[in-house]
Amino acid sequence: MNRNRVIRCAWIFWAVLVSAFFVGTAVAHDLTPIERLGKFIFFDKNLSINRNQSCAACHAPQVGWTGPEAALNKGGAVYEGSIAGRFGNRKPPSSAYATLSPILHYQMQDGEAVFIGGNFWDGRATGERLGNPAADQAQGPFLNPLEQALPDSACVVYRVCTANYPVSFQGVWGAGACDIEWPADVETVCATEGGMVELSDDDRAKSETAYDNIALSIAAYEDSFKVNAFTSKFDYYLAGKVRLTVWEKWGLRLFTTKGKCANCHTLDPAGPDGEPLFTDFTYDNLGVPRNPHNPFYNEPTFNPDGKDWVDEGLGGFLATRSDYKMYAEENYGKQKVPTVRNVDKRPSKRFVKAYGHNGYFKSLWGIVHFYNTRDVKPVCPDPFTTEAKALCQGCWPEPEVAANVNTDELGNLGLNTWEEIAIVAFLKTLSDGYQPSWR
Ligand code: HEC
Ligand code: HEC
Repeated sequence: MNRNRVIRCAWIFWAVLVSAFFVGTAVAHDLTPIERLGKFIFFDKNLSINRNQSCAACHAPQVGWTGPEAALNKGGAVYEGSIAGRFGNRKPPSSAYATLSPILHYQMQDGEAVFIGGNFWDGRATGERLGNPAADQAQGPFLNPLEQALPDSACVVYRVCTANYPVSFQGVWGAGACDIEWPADVETVCATEGGMVELSDDDRAKSETAYDNIALSIAAYEDSFKVNAFTSKFDYYLAGKVRLTVWEKWGLRLFTTKGKCANCHTLDPAGPDGEPLFTDFTYDNLGVPRNPHNPFYNEPTFNPDGKDWVDEGLGGFLATRSDYKMYAEENYGKQKVPTVRNVDKRPSKRFVKAYGHNGYFKSLWGIVHFYNTRDVKPVCPDPFTTEAKALCQGCWPEPEVAANVNTDELGNLGLNTWEEIAIVAFLKTLSDGYQPSWR
């Protein structure tokens, strides 16, 4: 090899190395095409009957992917759908870290079926259909009459196929993915409740495949580093890059010991890189009281039971399944253990967030105080007492569902006020988007 060739080889070597570095960093900081497509779908308001509501209306990044309206969070904490005046019956949980929930299944423990996984507070997005609970979940809201309210899944497909996203659906899912012959009246049908798009059998099958792929695109985005970010102060602490304050450390200790929080909001390494997810994806009835402001109590069309309605949680769903029906009773009132990542993520200090499946609690201290004193304080005379009034009166209302209330792990923790405050200080280290000073 002469000297020139050696120099040329060295040049090529460096060129390859340098471009590999840039490609590498570009890949590390960009969404893939399918994730980008999912993102455009997630934020697209056109994908609702009145073209006024996207997924982000109830799952916004600046509040940790839950409801972004402080005024609603202060009261019923339940969000209005695309059709004005129609509300659901539960508080939006965070849509972050939801993709990491396993497919709903159960394990026998001491003669009891313990259910694990799924999405939604009651686990009804099982993941059995598309192999991931978050993908199954993503097919729900578009067609839920209390949410985005489109009359037919073909309407979602039509609007995605005709959208002008910078990443097209066919670009990701293949030329022909949108080759469907739409009837002339498709626009009108899709803007009308109860409508059904007329399609040939072939086109209907194609549309159904496309609807599955829309859900998979959303789940891909939800699974990306933009949503499952793992960028909280606590993540940097685990990586040895920042320190926790004395209060935060004390709170962490209480979280795993006297407070028993980690029994359910576990710190086990379970994320893609061994990060803790702060949920074991099981279900429990904490005895959370009714939220008197839940608008669902006053929606006779969808809730004929009025104020007698109770949220049956997992048990309610299991009762609808022939294979799980026998386990329904022991699971009435149980709700999914949510991650506590991002529970304090909010756009400003005074912005109110709601906690629990019905948003009964309005502050982190309020819910921690409930864990600590549920069984210590007397029961409020009125089962429909708000958190603020209960705190004022020194009582807690009876549970929304009396059956299966967990009395082993909460209710009387014996924490003093300082210990409660320390746990809250720790919870505040779990917000993504932390900017360490060395950055
Ligand atoms: C009108 C408000 C609203 C809209 C719009 C909405 N959601 Fe939700 N979302 C909720 C509520 C309420 C729940 C809990 C419902 C339940 O458990 O029955 C929920 C649950 C979820 C969950 C489950 C999280 C978990 O850990 O179990 C995910 C993920 C999610 N939504 C994603 C989406 C996506 C994707 C869209 C758009 C296709 C969307 N949401 C549109 C209100 C909304
Ligand atoms: C026995 C299991 C269990 C234990 C122990 C437990 N939690 Fe929970 N946590 C849950 C369940 C289940 C919910 C949802 C309950 C509901 O809404 O009905 C929840 C909800 C929450 C929420 C609200 C999250 C949201 O998005 O609405 C916070 C915050 C929270 N827990 C913090 C804690 C802290 C702090 C402790 C310890 C003091 C603790 N939890 C102990 C199971 C548990």
